[in-house]
Amino acid sequence: MSALFQPFKLKDLSLRNRIAVPPMCQYMAIDGMVNDWHQVHYPALARGGAGLLIVEATAVSPEGRITPGCTGLWNDTQAEALAPIAAAIKAAGAVPGIQLAHAGRKASANRPWEGDDHIAESDARGWATIAPSALAFGANLPQVPKAMTLEDIARVRADFVAAAKRARDAGFEWLELHFAHGYLGQSFFSVHANQRDDAYGGSFDNRSRFLLETLAAVREVWPEHLPLTARFGVIEYDGRDEETLAESIELTRNFKRGGLDLLSVSVGFSTLQAKVPWAPAFLAPIAARVRQEAGLPVAAAWGIDTPQLADSTVANGQLDLVMIGRAHLANPHWPLQAARALNVERPTWVLPAPYAHWLERYRAG
Ligand SMILES: Cc1cc2nc3c(=O)[nH]c(=O)nc-3n(C[C@H](O)[C@H](O)[C@H](O)COP(=O)(O)O)c2cc1C
Repeated sequence: MSALFQPFKLKDLSLRNRIAVPPMCQYMAIDGMVNDWHQVHYPALARGGAGLLIVEATAVSPEGRITPGCTGLWNDTQAEALAPIAAAIKAAGAVPGIQLAHAGRKASANRPWEGDDHIAESDARGWATIAPSALAFGANLPQVPKAMTLEDIARVRADFVAAAKRARDAGFEWLELHFAHGYLGQSFFSVHANQRDDAYGGSFDNRSRFLLETLAAVREVWPEHLPLTARFGVIEYDGRDEETLAESIELTRNFKRGGLDLLSVSVGFSTLQAKVPWAPAFLAPIAARVRQEAGLPVAAAWGIDTPQLADSTVANGQLDLVMIGRAHLANPHWPLQAARALNVERPTWVLPAPYAHWLERYRAG
C-alpha cells in the first residue's frame, strides 16, 4: 500500500488517507455568507476522495476579511449556512475542517481577478485595517493599518473564540488557526510587521504572545477530542532564514505545550523583500525539520502535485499530511488519479458508489 493512502489518526479522528485539500478562498461570499457556489464546490471536492478538506480562510470579524467576497463566522446566520456544507463534506467521507482568519493589514483588498490590491479609501466597499503596528505591507497593499490597542487585541482574541464555538456547533471537526501568509497572526510574530514596544512586540516571547494567547483561548472552547491546528509561516526567505526558523521551531514547541495537535507549515509572506525558492515540494524539507525538532505532526502544501512526489513526502517521513491545492481545482478527482498512478488496489474506493461503480474497470485516456 502506498504511504499516501495510509489512514492518519489524530485525536479521535481517522482520515482515510494523507491527502488534504488546503483552505482556498473562493471570494464568492456576500457579507461573509456562503451561498450556492460554496454548497456545490466543497461537497464536490470532498467526493473526490481526500481524507481532509479545510474550508477557506473564514474571517472572525468583518474587518478580518481579505476581500468583500470572503466567508465569515462572526454571526450565527453565517454558521447556519455553513452547517450543511460541513455535513456534506462528512457524508462524502472526508473530515470537515475550517480555517479561522483575520487578514490584518492585508484586509480590504479587491478579489484577485479584480486587481488583488487594496480597495481605494474613497470606495465604500473597503474598510479601515488593523495590525500590530501602523506599517503598510506595501506595493499593491499600501493602506497604513491602525496599530491595535490592547482592547483591540482582546476583542480579536474573543472573536476567534466566538468563531471557534460557531465552527464547532456547525459540525466542523478540524480547526485551523490562520497564523500564516502575512495576515494578523503572522504579523504579530514578524519583525517586518511588528514594531511594538509593549508586551506584544520586541522579544521572541512578546512577538509570540498574541498567537499563544489566541491558541489558549480557542483551546478552552474547542473539544479536546478533535484536532486543533494552525497554519504558520515558519520562514520568510528574507535572508534571516536560520534565525527565523529556529524561532519558529521554538514557537511550535510552545504551540504544542499549548495544546496544538498539528502544524501546517507554510511561508511567512510578511515582506516584499522575500525571495521564495519556488520549486516542487520546496517546503517539505523545512516541514520535516519542524516535525523532527518540535515533535509535532506536520502538513505542507506548495507545488506537491504529482502522486509520486506526494507519496514520497509521506514515505520518507517529511510530512504527515500532503496539502494538494490547485491540482484539486484542476481535477476534483485528483485522489483517484493518484491512487491509479500509485497502483493502489481497487483505486475507485476513494469515490462514492455512483462514480466508483462505473469507473472500476474504466480508465480515462
Ligand atoms: C485560490 C486560492 C485560494 C487560497 N486561499 C487560501 C486560504 O484561504 N488560506 C490559506 O492558508 N491559503 C490559501 N491559499 C494557499 C493554498 O492553501 C496552498 O497553500 C497553495 O495553493 C499552494 O498549494 P498548491 O501548490 O498545492 O496549490 C490559496 C491558494 C489558492 C490557489
